[in-house]
Amino acid sequence: MIYVAIMGHGTVGSGVAEIMINHNPLVAEKVRDKIEVKYILELRDFSSLPYAEKFTDDFEKIVNDPEVKIVAEVMGGIHPAYEFVKRCLEAKKSVVTSNKELVAMKGAELLKIASENSVNFLFEASVGGGIPILRPMAQCLAANDINSVTGILNGTTNYVLNKMIVDDMSFDTALALAQEKGFAEKDPTADIEGHDTCRKICILASLAFGKHVYPEQVKTEGITNVTLEDVAYAQKLGCAIKLIARAKKLPGGHITAEVAPMLVSNSNMLSHVNGVFNAIMVHGDATGDVMFYGKGAGKMPTASAVVADIIDCAKHLHARKYFDWQEGEEGYVVPDTSKKRFFVLIKSLDFEAMSKSFNAVFPDNTWNIKNEFSGEIAFITDEDFEVEISKKLDKIKYESIKTMKMLF
Ligand code: HSE
Repeated sequence: MIYVAIMGHGTVGSGVAEIMINHNPLVAEKVRDKIEVKYILELRDFSSLPYAEKFTDDFEKIVNDPEVKIVAEVMGGIHPAYEFVKRCLEAKKSVVTSNKELVAMKGAELLKIASENSVNFLFEASVGGGIPILRPMAQCLAANDINSVTGILNGTTNYVLNKMIVDDMSFDTALALAQEKGFAEKDPTADIEGHDTCRKICILASLAFGKHVYPEQVKTEGITNVTLEDVAYAQKLGCAIKLIARAKKLPGGHITAEVAPMLVSNSNMLSHVNGVFNAIMVHGDATGDVMFYGKGAGKMPTASAVVADIIDCAKHLHARKYFDWQEGEEGYVVPDTSKKRFFVLIKSLDFEAMSKSFNAVFPDNTWNIKNEFSGEIAFITDEDFEVEISKKLDKIKYESIKTMKMLF
C-alpha cells in the first residue's frame, strides 16, 4: 500500500482528493499497487464530506508518518508551502505540486534537496493546468536544443480578453466570471498583472535552458491597459491581442524572457487560442515548432496533472526522475534587442497634422487604419529595432500614443 497526503483542499486540492478517491481502482491499476489518501491538511472545516476522517490541521502528523511516501502540495503561495515541501523532501517523501509561485522562486533549491534525499519533486500542474508540457519538453524533446518557448500561459487573462472580443463584455464582468469558474488566483491581480504568466515562463525557461530564471529577471506587463478600442483595432488589422510569454536562447549563453500583451497575427496559431485554453509553442532544432494545447486552468484539468505526478512518483518510489536545473545567476537574462514589428495607436485633435507627419515618417506603410472621425491612426510598423521605431515615432505630431509588440 502506498499512502499519500494532500496539503490543501481548495479548488485544485479538492479535485485531487476527488480523483484519488473516486478513481481509486484506475489509479491503483496504473501504479500496480494499492494507493490511498491518508491525510488531507486543511484548516477549514470539511466535516460534512464523505472522506472527512482524512482531514487534519497538523502538518507534523504528515511529515512524521513514515507510511506517507508521497505528498501533494496544493495550498499555493510561498509560506508555509516552501517550509512544508522542504521538510517533506528532507523526510524522504516525494512531493508533487501545482504551485507555480513556489517552483518559480525556489525550484532549483527544492530540486537539489529532492536529489540529495533520493526522492522526486514533480510539478507538471504548475504550467498549463491539464496540458502535458514539462514532461514532454524534458523527455520527448530531449534530443533537441530548444531555442525558444512562446505561449499563452494564463487561462484567466485569455478568458477575459476573449470575452471582451467576442461578447463585447467589460473587463470587470469578464474577470468576475473567470473567478466564479475557478480559473483565477485567490488574488486575481497575479493573473491580470502578468505575475502568474511570469512564474510559468520562468519554469519553462529554467527547464528548457537548464538554469533557473527568477520572476524578477523577467520584464512583465499585464493586461490592465488593454482597452476594447485596442481589441477592435487589432481585429481590423487581422490580429488578436493575447498575453504572451516568451523565452529565447541567445548566442553567448544568455537568454531573454518577457511577458506582455502582444498583437498576434491571425496567421499564427496562438491567435486562435481562446477562452481558458493555453498553448505553448516549443521550438526545437530538430523538431521545429511543436505546440501543446489544452485547458490551462480549472479544478479538474489541474488536478489531473497533479494526480499524474502522484502516479509517476508511486511508480518511481526508488528511482529519480531527472527534472533538474542549475541555480540561476545575475545577468543571465538580458533584454530582447532583436528587430520586431510594433502595433501603434496615435491620437490627435489635429488629425490632419498627425496624418501628414505619419505619411512623411512611414511613407510606405499600408498596414494602417485612419479614423479621422475619432482622430486616430492605428498601424503596424515594418520590422525594425525598437530604438529606430522610437526615433521615427518622435517625429509624428500626436497627443497620445500606445504601442504593443507584434507576434507573427
Ligand atoms: N490563475 C491561473 C490561470 C490558474 O488563470 O491560468 C492556473 O495556473
